[in-house]
Amino acid sequence: MSIRMPLMAGNWKMHYTAAEAVALVEELKQGITRFHDREVVVAPTFTALPAVANALSGSPIRLAAQNCHWEKQGAYTGEISPPMLKDVGCHYVIIGHSERRQYFRETDQEVNLKAAALLAQGGKTLDVLAEQLGGGLSGLEAPPADRIVIAYEPIWAIGTGLTATTEQAQEAHAFIRERLVKWCNKTVANQIRILYGGSVKPDNVDALMAMPDIDGVLVGGASLKGPSFIRIVEFQE
Ligand code: 13P
Repeated sequence: MSIRMPLMAGNWKMHYTAAEAVALVEELKQGITRFHDREVVVAPTFTALPAVANALSGSPIRLAAQNCHWEKQGAYTGEISPPMLKDVGCHYVIIGHSERRQYFRETDQEVNLKAAALLAQGGKTLDVLAEQLGGGLSGLEAPPADRIVIAYEPIWAIGTGLTATTEQAQEAHAFIRERLVKWCNKTVANQIRILYGGSVKPDNVDALMAMPDIDGVLVGGASLKGPSFIRIVEFQE
């Protein structure tokens, strides 16, 4: 069990219209009871963000976006900036997901620009790493620990039903934390949350969350249905 506040996040990827997303959020609001000792985050598509933000008003569930551009504004057709996401109530932005790297050829350098832009405007980033700390954070000054969350997602575990063993995941997380010590310092590195992602399900979340360096989960498929995500959020210690 981690000493950090667990963060349980659902990445809805390219699923759900605004109405469908709101319906899921209503289920989560009804079903999740344990907010006092864990943080819960949902990341709907851009088009559902305003409706979900509205549905979440007064709820402790926090909103995340799945991507952003690094400029505040400008001639970048199709892009959305950090201040625009803040404006619709986003608390976090997921950057560096392996699906963006694989399908949209996003590079470490772009992830780095996004991280810098988000941190500069006072936003929080949820950086997804496929391997140990890559170039996404290189050269950036370490922010306060509560402004950054790292997610470790082995590519072979995403959407495949295959999960790293709890021991493999723990080992990778401990290694990432060691690298974080070099980036910031030991105190901050010990406060930064590192989430595990890749085929997290109701039946493996308890074992994963029992590991000392697994501080939460970033869930794709199993976050798309109320009962399954509620069970994940309410992992048993
Ligand atoms: P799955 O939980 O569907 O494997 O997806 C993991 C993921 O990529 C979360 O960002």
